[in-house]
Amino acid sequence: MITVENVSKTFSGKSGDVEALKNVTIQVNDGDIFGVIGFSGAGKSTLIRTVNLLERPDSGKVIINGTDMTALPKRKLLEIRKNIGMVFQQFNLLNSKTVRQNIAIPLILEKKPKAEIRERVNELLKFVELEEKGDVYAENLSGGQKQRVGIARALVTNPSILLCDEATSALDPKTTESILELLKKVNRELGVTILLITHQMNVIREICNRVAVMENGEIVEQGDVIDVFGDPQHDITKGFVKTVIDDTIPASIRRSILNDHKQGEVLRLKFTGESAQDSLLSRINKNFSVETNVLSATVSELQGMVLSILTIRLTGTDDEIAKAERYIKESGVEARKVILKNGSTD
Ligand SMILES: Nc1ncnc2c1ncn2[C@@H]1O[C@H](COP(=O)(O)OP(=O)(O)OP(=O)(O)O)[C@@H](O)[C@H]1O
Ligand SMILES: [Mg+2]
Repeated sequence: MITVENVSKTFSGKSGDVEALKNVTIQVNDGDIFGVIGFSGAGKSTLIRTVNLLERPDSGKVIINGTDMTALPKRKLLEIRKNIGMVFQQFNLLNSKTVRQNIAIPLILEKKPKAEIRERVNELLKFVELEEKGDVYAENLSGGQKQRVGIARALVTNPSILLCDEATSALDPKTTESILELLKKVNRELGVTILLITHQMNVIREICNRVAVMENGEIVEQGDVIDVFGDPQHDITKGFVKTVIDDTIPASIRRSILNDHKQGEVLRLKFTGESAQDSLLSRINKNFSVETNVLSATVSELQGMVLSILTIRLTGTDDEIAKAERYIKESGVEARKVILKNGSTD
């Protein structure tokens, strides 16, 4: 388990001080793939670097599996770092060394016997599906292959934690997909806890179970991916979620509703898992004297769970609408009223 507790960090530069982290608290549980998302300069890299103390916090604590990293003497810190692998956006490989040599570096530094290194490197080459490339120089690999080597090198000491700083940001979408699959395999098959940072919401959607959103050195929102994607609270989170789940009501529909002056309510309904959205609408229509219109609908899969967001408009008398709303709530569907305004894009 990784606990970052009230961590702050300020950098002093020529143009003044930068508060890169302000009282940041996150908890990453064993087995999590925890994603931190934010725009450039939000403080993501600084945060991930405080976890292995590449960056020392000015205040606050970093506790890994019960050990307070900030209180450790240097020798002990180096020891614990072996349990934490790190993967970088720009791969950080030695280009004039072969794939095997790159993967072996952490074990060579530990002065492990040659035979043991060879065996472990072979295991990892297989795991990252680069068996054919062992003797190729790193500079002759594609970006995706380089990142596979980066991941293999990070795993060579058998860490229980993997930190990924924008591991897919230098890759095209298809290669990103395959690296994300590999990270999932690292988590599932090797039981490695992953803390990753990214500015791409699709990375969070594809592999994370928990997410924290960062802005200006602060965590503005965090939680289970399904909850945060289903009902983002902060404006910046809403913006990120919209890049992968767009539940915007189309402008023309919005305009026609605002102009028709019928009595009605607009509701945003959230269904997770198995709840049957189709039958809910037909049951409403059958049981109440209201008309239902779908204004927007999205269905996504997150963590193997289906998340559907439906924006509907109910028209009819106040009394019948109120009854229908009560019925929706009693059906266990999360419903929230949406107030349409001219020019707004909620
Ligand atoms: N060593 C440093 N010295 C001075 N300022 C720094 C240093 N490292 C980071 N900063 C500043 O701290 C802030 C946060 O930087 P950080 O690299 O953590 O952001 P980030 O979210 O990782 O951004 P990006 O997505 O661009 O990588 C920025 O304003 C950056 O300029
Ligand atoms: Mg960064």
